Amino acid sequence: MRVAVLNGPNLNLLGSREPEHYGTERLEDIERAVRRRAGEVGADVTWHQTNHEGEFVDLVQRLAGDADGAVVNAAAFTHTSLAVRDALLAVGLPFVEVHLSNIYAREPERRNSLLADLAVAVIAGCGARGYVWALETLVSHLERSDA
Ligand code: DQA
Repeated sequence: MRVAVLNGPNLNLLGSREPEHYGTERLEDIERAVRRRAGEVGADVTWHQTNHEGEFVDLVQRLAGDADGAVVNAAAFTHTSLAVRDALLAVGLPFVEVHLSNIYAREPERRNSLLADLAVAVIAGCGARGYVWALETLVSHLERSDA
């Protein structure tokens, strides 16, 4: 089972960036935890982060053929990017949307996700552990779809 994890803008700054919202773990720490769990559940993980919308779209488009599903934290693009939504629609692969913070308890402009209705599930507000749970959720969805 091939799982791509896509991270959007400013997530490269995790650890120092607004720890009151995003915690103190760095993206590399989260990647390590996800890869560890992936090994236990038999998933192969590819890990990406970009600050650029077009590159994010390219990453989504490349999922076709390269992955069975994705864990997606599109960060600010979640709230703004029809291009990312269109790419996910075009590719049609199952994905779990994840956010470190509870976007529904933040500023009004963060409370809407342009991606959520396309997702298998949304995990928000669980911090770094949310990534591991997103992986687990995706894997069990893919296993069910296989049966
Ligand atoms: C985020 C929430 C977004 O609103 C924000 O723009 C981010 C991170 C999160 O993981 O909580 O960059 O996706």
